[in-house]
Amino acid sequence: MTPDESTHGMWSNRWLFVLAAAGSAVGLGNIWKFPYIAGENGGGVFVVAYLFCVALVGIPVMVAEVLIGRQGRQSPINSMRLLVQRSEGSQAWTLIGWAGVVAGFLILSFYSVIAGWGLYYIGELASGGFVGVDGNTATQALAELHSNPILMSVFHTVFMGITIFIVARGVVSGLERAIRWLMPLLFVLLIVLLGYGIASGGFAEGFDFMFALRWDALSFDGLLVALGHAAFTLSIGMGAIMAYGAYVPRSVSITRTVITIAMLDTVVALIAGLAIFSIVFANGLEPGSGPGLMFVTVPRAFGQMSLGALFGGIFFILVSFAAITSAISLTEPAIAFLVEEYNASRSRVAVSLGVACWLLGLASVFSFNVWSDVYVVGEKTVFDSIDYLTANIMLPLGAFFIALFAGYVLPRGTVMSQLGITSESAMAIWTVGLKVIAPLGVLAVFLYTIWPSG
Ligand code: TRP
Repeated sequence: MTPDESTHGMWSNRWLFVLAAAGSAVGLGNIWKFPYIAGENGGGVFVVAYLFCVALVGIPVMVAEVLIGRQGRQSPINSMRLLVQRSEGSQAWTLIGWAGVVAGFLILSFYSVIAGWGLYYIGELASGGFVGVDGNTATQALAELHSNPILMSVFHTVFMGITIFIVARGVVSGLERAIRWLMPLLFVLLIVLLGYGIASGGFAEGFDFMFALRWDALSFDGLLVALGHAAFTLSIGMGAIMAYGAYVPRSVSITRTVITIAMLDTVVALIAGLAIFSIVFANGLEPGSGPGLMFVTVPRAFGQMSLGALFGGIFFILVSFAAITSAISLTEPAIAFLVEEYNASRSRVAVSLGVACWLLGLASVFSFNVWSDVYVVGEKTVFDSIDYLTANIMLPLGAFFIALFAGYVLPRGTVMSQLGITSESAMAIWTVGLKVIAPLGVLAVFLYTIWPSG
């Protein structure tokens, strides 16, 4: 038997795990990505599909990840190896761990680029650069950043540097302090932004856009995007939560904690969405305007407020922090594995991984300028392709196999004791969730998407 602790450190209590996992979940996915993909996919129907995916696939798979991590107490790859051996399953299951390492690497490469825009906007807003601007000027300012590969690379470098610096020192000690204060503050500023949205008169239309069910807006691809985003925003499907699960003390209730985390994450996304769409409609902006949406609406809103330069600067500082705590979790499966496998020091491993990921990130930087007409698959730039491949293919597949593994391979007794379940009826809920609902949900969305449509 392995000792019931991880060699990489342990969260000191339940609350710190909630903060770390919520820190991983709440990030650019909630504030930047969710509003823009909801805008591109027609709003209401997309939002509802996303909520269903969070509840039916996201929560069961997140439970499975924490459970596997805590049972294995190692990096996702090695935890899977160990659990496969014990249950005499096929070694092929460890591919989940490997695919997760690759997905994390790919995601971080473009995540760092977008987070770099956020860092750049701290200075732009704080210096008063957006005071009193209209929508056009804000759009123009973003276009200027996009056309400048050097500037984008500089901020991409800074973001990756900060992330790797923290990762090198170890997640457990590095994360705790930052998240405890900054996350609640971010929440407060999102409410301020929403207040502005309401005051500027766009709330009714924004609310309608986000929640009215216009069925004709549901596209085949939109449903897949909703599923992919549910995985992305909860940080599931690639082992990040599994890696964090390895550091969770035995006394923590997994189910209760996971539900808390998923609710926090969803609330942040919905508030960010409502705030941003209120501003969009109050100002006659375009809801489907793509990845730049947040970077146009938010500066525009703070530019109109008194003390907007101050609050706007703070807002982008907090978004950058949220992005850092997410980025850290993207590296943890790979870092923990490399440390275990080569007995290497965390910092050496972190720097090597960071440099490689930084290099790949440059390709995403160039997608917005010099390589903007270089297409990888279909009409997609490098940035779009990596985003599509990871969020819409790799994460849902990862979630699918994690659910199957926890549902069919792990011994029933292990699951029951990990989840602290004693009654048959409570166990039946998780069995159905992991064996049937989550996998079938993923499968249904995939089939729906590739269905030869008219
Ligand atoms: N969930 C984060 C966000 O919404 C991004 C993220 C962090 C992530 N770790 C992950 C996505 C692991 C997928 C897998 O911004």
